[in-house]
Amino acid sequence: MDPRAISKIKERLEASKSPVALTGAGVSAESGVPTFRGPNGLWKTYKPEDLATPEAFERDPFLVWEWYNFRREKIASVSPNPAHEALARLEASKPSFTLITQNVDGLHCLAGSRNVLEIHGSIWNLRCVECGNSSENRDVPIGILPRCACGGLLRPGVVWFGESLPEDIMNAAFEAAEKADFMMVVGTSGVVQPAASLASVAKRAGAFTVEINTDSTPLSDIMDERVEGRAGEILPVLVTA
Ligand code: OAD
Repeated sequence: MDPRAISKIKERLEASKSPVALTGAGVSAESGVPTFRGPNGLWKTYKPEDLATPEAFERDPFLVWEWYNFRREKIASVSPNPAHEALARLEASKPSFTLITQNVDGLHCLAGSRNVLEIHGSIWNLRCVECGNSSENRDVPIGILPRCACGGLLRPGVVWFGESLPEDIMNAAFEAAEKADFMMVVGTSGVVQPAASLASVAKRAGAFTVEINTDSTPLSDIMDERVEGRAGEILPVLVTA
């Protein structure tokens, strides 16, 4: 960690009136939740078109539920790590802080974050494909194939490839990015839209932009500062107890 970069980021964060963080799978990696891309990423072993599209669910809901059950079991067995905890502390000390996450694992909330914009949904929500009713369900494993009170099939309440993101949540995320004076982008490969564009929106609006990642990404070039390393080691240094 470059101490000059760290103290500059800390200064900007402390002075910030409307800080925003965008997080991705890298934030949960140190908890033991697999990321999607990279050498051990889920998309190396599994094909998104077989498991994470509305067409896949229509074709083979059993297979899709098997995969989501496997992921729910994995997530249920892990705990938030110091990166999640640091972001929860940030919210407690700066109520204007907005946390936007692409993660569906719910670990930010488990760490104590209250205002989380889960733009890709939550693996703990189920939605009826018939009546659209949505409810929380933390059963692990969940009976295959779960059904709604109306008789319709329940699906994971996550956003799949080819689907639109929840409009109200996305509007809130873009509004926060437009108003941000500080934006940190943590543990995301920055290749999935529209999430990735939130960083450029904040940058154009004049925010000080920071990337925390073990690797460089397509977003690295627009960042004012980058700290290369693990989120669970860097965030606790930026947001001290
Ligand atoms: P990815 O798996 O694409 O990227 C994870 C990023 O985290 C990579 O850039 C890694 O370098 C970085 N990383 C890994 N471990 C880290 C650590 N300990 N600390 C900091 N950084 C670390 O995950 P996302 O960018 O979140 O969408 O993926 C975006 C979306 O693609 C997901 O929400 C999911 C997926 O398909 C849907 O399912 C709709």
